[in-house]
Amino acid sequence: MGVHIGADRGEIAETVLLPGDPFRARWAAETFLDTPRCVNEVRGMLGYTGTWQGQPVTIHGTGMGMPSLSIYVNELIRDHGVRTLIRIGSAGAMQTGVNLRDIVLAMSASTISTPSRAILRDLNYAPVADFGLLTAAHAAARAIGAQTHVGGVYSSDTFYDERPELDAELTRHGTLAVEMETAELYILAARHGCRALSVLTISDHLLRDEALPAEEREKSFAQMVQVALRAAFT
Ligand code: ADE
Repeated sequence: MGVHIGADRGEIAETVLLPGDPFRARWAAETFLDTPRCVNEVRGMLGYTGTWQGQPVTIHGTGMGMPSLSIYVNELIRDHGVRTLIRIGSAGAMQTGVNLRDIVLAMSASTISTPSRAILRDLNYAPVADFGLLTAAHAAARAIGAQTHVGGVYSSDTFYDERPELDAELTRHGTLAVEMETAELYILAARHGCRALSVLTISDHLLRDEALPAEEREKSFAQMVQVALRAAFT
């Protein structure tokens, strides 16, 4: 039992799906897994373990932002032996050709800073997805008919952004979408020799005044869970 994850060793699967929202973790586990069992509720950060097509899977919340994700991912890898980590989350589109409901597979994640800054210091490390997961997720997303983009995202420390000129530069440099967790996930996976991928759906648009209503967010979340599960076990 760790500081932030109350599960015993062996109660968490080697493959973990990581939504930001703990209630989404519960919903996904109850909807997609067989025999889901709650394995963590410390600080309300819910984690469930069950099986999908006979394979053990845990779905665990991360909270919002890289410091929160970093705590859970560190403990999942170090204390529970997790080897495959797939974030399922939302993102804001930064290109005109990326639309609400589209899936973005984050091939890389640019950032100003992450909790790993203390280790990497002045190195502009390039956090990247696991290639096998990325190609498997791409095939899975196309198989369910989702509009899918593969490319770079921006992992921001802020949701309420006050620096429009940075957003403009990210758009000019081809960044597909902004979210708040992927860079640290990829850095931690690289450090510990694990596989990681972020599967994101577009919930809002930075270049147009558009956002998905709540019930549509749930539908697109279900799509992401399916893509992540298929990718994990391809
Ligand atoms: N997640 C979803 N939309 C976002 C946005 N606009 N900025 C940061 N994170 C997000």
